[in-house]
Amino acid sequence: MTTELERLEQQKAYYRARAGEYDEWFERRGKYDHGEQWNARWRAEVEEVRRALAAFRPTGRVLELAAGTGWWTAELLRYADEVTVVDSSPETLAINRARVGDAPVRHVVADLFAWQPDRQYDMVFFSFWLSHVPPSQFAPFWGMVKAALKPGGRVFFIDSQRSQTGTAADQTLQLDEQVEQTRRLNDGNSYTIVKIYYTPADLQARLAQLGWDVTVRRTDNYFLYGEGVRHELTRREG
Ligand SMILES: C[S@@+](CC[C@H](N)C(=O)[O-])C[C@H]1O[C@@H](n2cnc3c(N)ncnc32)[C@H](O)[C@@H]1O
Repeated sequence: MTTELERLEQQKAYYRARAGEYDEWFERRGKYDHGEQWNARWRAEVEEVRRALAAFRPTGRVLELAAGTGWWTAELLRYADEVTVVDSSPETLAINRARVGDAPVRHVVADLFAWQPDRQYDMVFFSFWLSHVPPSQFAPFWGMVKAALKPGGRVFFIDSQRSQTGTAADQTLQLDEQVEQTRRLNDGNSYTIVKIYYTPADLQARLAQLGWDVTVRRTDNYFLYGEGVRHELTRREG
């Protein structure tokens, strides 16, 4: 068993080393190709979440945490005036930068467990990140999200459901209570990282305890997504 600190360091190293092959996962290529039937379901569920984000309308000044190679950054740019993206991997942010071109995006290389927002945003977005936040960092992470939001600011996030066809063919899914996973890259090197699969009800309840009024929904197989605001803001506005 690795320590939490080791897992977080390996997690950063893993995503740096994985940058060039990261999109194989989202595009269902290589070891993520589970056959056309499952790939088509994946694409349909991506589209369902994409539509939910469009309905949410992520307008104004947007902060995207752990933005990675930028598939969702490009989606945010359909609505946002400007996007600040933060990620600890310069390699993934280089791909992100190439993807968004000359769009109004500020790229920040930083460790999210140490980073503090330097301005306030209309909304905060993160995809496939919360499942990599260890339990000890869950409340501090949401405290940072709160600090990043203007009064009345909103949050939208996307994450993974536990699903064998959602992950690599050579990846064994861990048991319910486990918070770590060993991941192998195409070069055979392996890394131990944090991975937590939430259910919508559990996640929504945990967020309510921290003062968030967030609704978490799921797609049939692969994704969960949440959207909302802080409780006290809702009350004040009501
Ligand atoms: C699963 S990927 C998600 C990327 C992107 N949001 C997406 O939807 O594809 C996780 C991202 O978190 C970044 N990351 C890992 N540890 C981090 C840390 N401590 N601080 C900031 N970013 C981190 C990785 O570099 C990687 O880009």
